[in-house]
Amino acid sequence: MSHIIYPQTNLTATEQLVIERGEGVYVYDNQGKRYLEGMAGLWCTSLGYGHAELMATVQESLAKLSYSHMFGGKSHPEAIALADKLSDMAPMTDAKVFFGNSGSDANDTHIKMLRYYFNAIGKPEKRKIITRQRAYHGVTVAAGALTSLPVNLQFFDAPEEALGILRTDHPHYYSGRLGDETEAEFVKRITDNLEALIVREGPESIAAFIAEPVTGASGVIVPPAGYYEKVQAILNKYDILFWADEVITGFGRLGEDFGCNAMGIEKPDMMSFAKQLSSAYYPISASLIRGDMYDAIVEQSKKVGAFGHGYTYSGHPVACATASKVLEIYERDQMFQHAATLGDYLQSKLNSFIDHPLVGEVRGKGLVAAVELVANKSTGESFTNAKVGAYAIARCQQHGLILRNVAGNSLAVCPPLIVNQSHIDEIVEIMAKVLDETHEFAHAQNLIKG
Ligand SMILES: Cc1ncc(COP(=O)(O)O)c(C=O)c1O
Repeated sequence: MSHIIYPQTNLTATEQLVIERGEGVYVYDNQGKRYLEGMAGLWCTSLGYGHAELMATVQESLAKLSYSHMFGGKSHPEAIALADKLSDMAPMTDAKVFFGNSGSDANDTHIKMLRYYFNAIGKPEKRKIITRQRAYHGVTVAAGALTSLPVNLQFFDAPEEALGILRTDHPHYYSGRLGDETEAEFVKRITDNLEALIVREGPESIAAFIAEPVTGASGVIVPPAGYYEKVQAILNKYDILFWADEVITGFGRLGEDFGCNAMGIEKPDMMSFAKQLSSAYYPISASLIRGDMYDAIVEQSKKVGAFGHGYTYSGHPVACATASKVLEIYERDQMFQHAATLGDYLQSKLNSFIDHPLVGEVRGKGLVAAVELVANKSTGESFTNAKVGAYAIARCQQHGLILRNVAGNSLAVCPPLIVNQSHIDEIVEIMAKVLDETHEFAHAQNLIKG
């Protein structure tokens, strides 16, 4: 065993697969075996592996300026160009952009900016943040407290109270509905709960509500129609900011430029980007805030002498150049439209699994989806642990497909945006075989009910 402490891993089961190289939508292990990367790595390798133009950009930009920082007002053309482009693209009012290195630090930055901003406008008591059950917003101390998945919270003693973290319902109708509640009734109940939480806590104490437009790690939850409309009406009523965590949904994943546009979220006040921003060719994240929020923090920084937040690698020139090239390719190759077309194809193919005895729900939007495996198809009862999903993932791997088991027993599918129809056919064919094998396994283990 190596000396690595593996991230997000059961530390008794490390080095399960050693990947050596990648090309297009495929990766190859150290035995030379090929796998279709059905998860785009960690929802990030949108333009696939070994992209010649991106490799050239990284190389050229390293040769030109391998590093320059942005502290004390220093700048460079790559960061300026990328920030302008992101501000143009984002569905926000005059967005200003802060650069970081990961989705988690982008969210941490936002927590700090919220405090800085509300202190600046004379509302220091407005500091609590509402997150949702099952949310995933990263793992740093503060962003990790916004995450609601037990595995990311247990034993880490996250400072939830100190940070003023409040949790409200997740918007998953299939697992969250009560009795024969309709979707509309479900939406009404959980948004009524949101409003009650705000009133109970005091709207003057709540800064923002954070949401992934469609979730990832929590099982690809696509909220029912009308959910965001109701949420935004409540937030507007109580003067609470909408913070869109678009670390997964940004840049075409849902078949539109941003998840907010795909899900009918009007003008968020803050947005977090990472992953597909650079197609994972170089680590970079961006935290965007409204222009008038920026104006307020400018005044505040004048008093202190500096906006005292920033990383050594904020606006790394190679990362910024790479991200700009990625955005250029998205536009030139009409990747968001491609994702919409291929997304429709993927969703319609996956929907055929709904009749399988092991499948409770198939959900998704654009090029991200999940197939939820359940113990009891007629009631939707879940398995008591993640053994069945883990088995399915291992079988996929055996057949040359990488997927991920999330939120218990949901098989997540999130291929690079460059997939074509035959890649999707390959994914679906392997999954069909694996569903049968997994059903047999679950049956043999007496795990099937009903
Ligand atoms: C929605 C969302 N936010 C934040 C993060 C954290 O990003 P990172 O792993 O780059 O810190 C992730 C990572 O998967 C994510 O899915």
